[in-house]
Amino acid sequence: MALEKAKVVVTGAAGFIGSHLAESLIREGYHVIGIDSFTNYYPRTTKELNLKSLLASPDFDFIEGDLLEIDLAALLRGARYVFHEAAQAGVRGSWGDSFEIYMRNNIFATQKLLESVKDLRSLSCLIFASSSSIYGDAEKFPTSEKALPKPVSPYGVTKLACEHLCRVYQKSFGVPITILRYFTVYGPRQRPDMAFYRFIKAMTQKRQFTVYGNGEQTRNFTYISDIVEANILAMKNSPSGEIFNIGGGTQISVNKVIRLLEGILGYKASIQYSDWQKGDAYHTGADVSYAKHKLGYVPKINIKEGLQKQVEWQVSRIEEKQMKESKSIRRRAVAKPKY
Ligand SMILES: NC(=O)c1ccc[n+]([C@@H]2O[C@H](COP(=O)([O-])OP(=O)(O)OC[C@H]3O[C@@H](n4cnc5c(N)ncnc54)[C@H](O)[C@@H]3O)[C@@H](O)[C@H]2O)c1
Repeated sequence: MALEKAKVVVTGAAGFIGSHLAESLIREGYHVIGIDSFTNYYPRTTKELNLKSLLASPDFDFIEGDLLEIDLAALLRGARYVFHEAAQAGVRGSWGDSFEIYMRNNIFATQKLLESVKDLRSLSCLIFASSSSIYGDAEKFPTSEKALPKPVSPYGVTKLACEHLCRVYQKSFGVPITILRYFTVYGPRQRPDMAFYRFIKAMTQKRQFTVYGNGEQTRNFTYISDIVEANILAMKNSPSGEIFNIGGGTQISVNKVIRLLEGILGYKASIQYSDWQKGDAYHTGADVSYAKHKLGYVPKINIKEGLQKQVEWQVSRIEEKQMKESKSIRRRAVAKPKY
């Protein structure tokens, strides 16, 4: 008799990171319940494409619903691992009236999830997707987990509040929780508001694009498969109450990334440098030595290889779209006139 597969819940499963993670968990032999409400931050059709191969798997069940509205306790019954990826992401949009959305989808949704797992006996670990944004402009680079968090954006404040909620539920109810602080993630399915996606899109369309600031700001960009691997390692080790930086290993400026993209695409970028955006940290750099020591995490994909893969994916998406559009034009052209 075949053993029943362990149940894993991934919130935000239709998103960039959640969809990749769910695919890997299925490959690892788990049964995945994916939850997503298709928030309107970017098009639903993009998220449906993210889910395409998952929906074809017998080891995946998809629940369309808002974490704050669905019966989470019922969905979580029997779950061994929970990966909490659902959130309102994006630093720049978190000012003004939109802050309400960040409060709702980050702080309130995380608190409801924590309430729903606090008596869940089957749970071995909840892994929370936090962000380098909690550091703000850190005093030391590369930055270790011991640095004092001082976010410079309302988004970062909400992610830090979520971390504190995780700690409170871990201390008071013994919920086993591991926190991973992701450093700017890229690769296939990257969110359309993110820099690399915008740069590649504009360059393939031979359009000018905007870089905020002088482009000399640096990041520790992390390729998607490294992020997924860090999650799987955290699941297997389940070190409750621990926090880990998850970065990509190379510190590089935005201008240098654009030079690399020019080489890959064979096109000289047309850049409009504009004002620095409030909420952006100037540099973020991950010290991943603790994740290496405790989890065995070592980033594998270097920036050049990762960019090449994201370009290939974005170009193939554009070609797919163009093919669909030209087919529909041909269909309309051969259709009989209505009069
Ligand atoms: N992408 C990055 O560079 C990055 C960096 C640091 C941290 N993170 C964190 O990683 C996680 C995933 O980010 P992403 O880039 O994949 O974002 P994403 O927007 O692609 O995915 C998030 C998903 O969560 C869903 N969602 C939001 N609120 C929900 C709710 N109340 N109920 C149900 N579903 C809801 C959205 O519809 C979306 O599909 C987020 O928690 C984000 O804060 C991302």
